[in-house]
Amino acid sequence: MQPPLTVLGIETSCDETAAAVVRLGAGTDARPEVLSSVIATQFERHRPYGGVVPEIAARAHAEVIDTVIRAAMDESGVGFGGLGGVAATAGPGLIGGVMVGLAAGKAVALARNLPLIAVNHLEGHALSPRLTEDAPYPYLLLLVSGGHCQLLSVEGVGRCTRLGTTIDDAAGEAFDKIAMTLGLGYPGGPALERLAATGDPTRFALPRMLLGRAGCDFSFSGLKTAAARQAAGLTDDGARADLAASVQQAIARQLAERTARAITLHLQRFGDAGRVLAVAGGVAANGAVRAALAATASAHDFRFVAPPLKYCTDNAAMIALAGAERLQLGLTDPLDVAARPRWPLDEATALSAPVHAPGRKGAKA
Ligand code: KG4
Ligand code: ZN
Repeated sequence: MQPPLTVLGIETSCDETAAAVVRLGAGTDARPEVLSSVIATQFERHRPYGGVVPEIAARAHAEVIDTVIRAAMDESGVGFGGLGGVAATAGPGLIGGVMVGLAAGKAVALARNLPLIAVNHLEGHALSPRLTEDAPYPYLLLLVSGGHCQLLSVEGVGRCTRLGTTIDDAAGEAFDKIAMTLGLGYPGGPALERLAATGDPTRFALPRMLLGRAGCDFSFSGLKTAAARQAAGLTDDGARADLAASVQQAIARQLAERTARAITLHLQRFGDAGRVLAVAGGVAANGAVRAALAATASAHDFRFVAPPLKYCTDNAAMIALAGAERLQLGLTDPLDVAARPRWPLDEATALSAPVHAPGRKGAKA
């Protein structure tokens, strides 16, 4: 039996500076305990620009990283001597920010003589349901955020198979961009959901992208164009609410339809051992999306698990958990490990079936 492991996690890949301490109990079925999870958001700094500005993000991470780590350590009640390792996000993400968090993690590891674990941010998201839910491997995961839209069979650390990904925008990005055309603020997803609450989702006919198409990939660009066309010239509030509701339904439906296809593939591989559908990422906050996924899961006799929102969006507890599970398997990294702006979780599938051409314009995930 493994002894309990306590790990400090650090996350700086986008616009949240986060640190957390997670303890993994002894035994393979023990639930992790989040001893602290501190998040300093930079949201207000980026708001005037309508999106995250990489240079502003990196500078803001550097300003607060020490304080955030100190706060997470203090809150956890665990001294540095009680840690078994330090995990930091090493990519994918905005490289300046990733470098700040990874350098901080290396500094703690070096100063305290602790093993370092370089964590893939996507693996953090992939494992996040296990922070609070009963999600034994293997499970099917839909990761839907502003930067990612992927379906993964999660078998364990370093063992995620990508079943589908977006061929253009992520679902959160689609929510944000369409919200912008409706004159809503940034980030647009929550604002669009509020507007949609009073709208009629059947009012506007929008394209059902990839409907009936083989595979589990996603596409939202056609929906975005159609919604922009419909939004132009809409002045009355009722019509805007109807368009918001129609867009939300179209996105929720596509997520559910593609997930249903992934369920079939996942079942072919794992049979009854894998009948859990988990969701992660900021878009999981959306009620219509959750409802559509819960219905899909139930129709296929899958249990649906959705972690609390604080662990769906970017946080360091998921990085600490991924670090602790890696450490249990003896997977650590040298102190000269490099930060990576692009780092596919399933490198084999990313190489054998690339969705985007490599290079500067390639997908971050
Ligand atoms: O996971 P997250 O906090 O950050 C990353 O993108 O990594 O996800 C943020 C995304 C944004 O695109 C935001 O608009 C979307 O999640 N989002 C929502 C809702 N809340 C957040 N989209 C739709 N409905 C919501 N209620
Ligand atoms: Zn994320």
